[in-house]
Amino acid sequence: MKMWSGRFSQSANSGFEQWQRSFPFDRVLLPYELAASQAHAAALSKAGVLGPEELARTVLALEQIAREELPSDTNPDIEDVHHYVEMRLVELAGEVGYKLHSGRSRNEQIATDLRLFVRAQIDAISAQVAEFAGEILKQAYAAGENAMPAYTHLQRAEPVLVAHWLLAYVEMFFRDLSRLADCRQRLNQCPLGSGAVAGTVLPLDRDAMALQLDFEMPTANSLDATGDRDFAIEFVQALSSVALHLSRWAEELILYSTTEFGFVRLPEQFSTGSSAMPQKKNPDALELVRGKAGKIFAQTTALFMSVKGLTLAYNKDLQETQQPVLTASEQVSSMLRIAAGFMASLDFDYQRMQRAASHGFMNAQAAAAYLVRKGVPFRRAHELVGKAVRLCIEKDCELEQLSPQDFERCGVESTEDFYNALTLSNVLAVHNAPGGTAPECVRRALRDAKEKLSLYVEVAHACA
Ligand code: ARG
Repeated sequence: MKMWSGRFSQSANSGFEQWQRSFPFDRVLLPYELAASQAHAAALSKAGVLGPEELARTVLALEQIAREELPSDTNPDIEDVHHYVEMRLVELAGEVGYKLHSGRSRNEQIATDLRLFVRAQIDAISAQVAEFAGEILKQAYAAGENAMPAYTHLQRAEPVLVAHWLLAYVEMFFRDLSRLADCRQRLNQCPLGSGAVAGTVLPLDRDAMALQLDFEMPTANSLDATGDRDFAIEFVQALSSVALHLSRWAEELILYSTTEFGFVRLPEQFSTGSSAMPQKKNPDALELVRGKAGKIFAQTTALFMSVKGLTLAYNKDLQETQQPVLTASEQVSSMLRIAAGFMASLDFDYQRMQRAASHGFMNAQAAAAYLVRKGVPFRRAHELVGKAVRLCIEKDCELEQLSPQDFERCGVESTEDFYNALTLSNVLAVHNAPGGTAPECVRRALRDAKEKLSLYVEVAHACA
């Protein structure tokens, strides 16, 4: 039986009827629809609308549906997941199944189902982000005190520890975890009892329904609760940020795996060959992560466009907000799965990185800093070391290979101390303010990151 045929004398255009259905995609919300229906049934019984025996039959039937396989979209008469549950309930429990819709509306149901879905996805994806960050952290520990060049403008700038570079990514994913947690906290209110728009017409215990579904409290305003999709937008924005960070990570590794850089060796399990060029090993996994990121951003835009300018409260446009949420969470989850496996099997060429870290005048700033410590004004020191670099370029050598006479020609007084300040280990060590790349700082940063991550992993376990 249809959910709304009474006032119509003509049947719907069949093309339109099919076109407006959401069951092909909202089927996946079934577990949440059933959980919300259980909470509603309990409230109906408390309100005296369902007798004890009717409640028992309803609850048993809902449990039975939950045990069944996710239905495929073979019956064109099923409009959406809410309709499916009502039809199946009537098949299993009889006429009492038609009582469950008392005092509720699909408008509050879809708002509730989607919140429950997003909340579960936040927990699952946060666990994946934490796992991926954990793989980066393991590589950072394994990198020891090996160094590499850090770049600004993609030009060699200063040497850093490989671990320091990796920890930069861990920071990005920490921010994503906190964004997801923030979104979870804000969405955790229960729309049940909001009715179609003005609130329910029955004395339903909204607090009890919220509690049963692990929401912190009922939503405060029925128009807002049924017309709001901010939680979906915030979630997909947080996923966009995960995707953004994954794309930067992927791009950097693509670059570092080239023959020109040669800092990392692509794991064969995550690479493909070329059908034409026998020598090729291509970074397809990374390229697909980078490429899919664009599709995630598109889902955010799609959500904004669907909600933009909508009057309060429910409008059918809101049905269009489901697929971007489903697509983005499914895609980001798959990207994270591949990225974690990739990171765990990535091989670093530390020798090459270390060698690169010692070339290209990356000790120039440390040289200037040495002169500053000796009382030379920085702008002067910058100029003098710059002259020395120019001389190096003429002579095709590094700063530490210039003789004391060469330095003197540039106006730099070079003692043994000065030459010491130019060695890679001293250049690294001098960056010893917290957050810098000196080995002592990086050791502390590794410990801090490990501790912070263990909190997220505990939270992820607690939510699972
Ligand atoms: N399938 C609909 C959706 O996802 C459910 C809500 C329908 N409400 C209505 N008033 N037609 O938005």
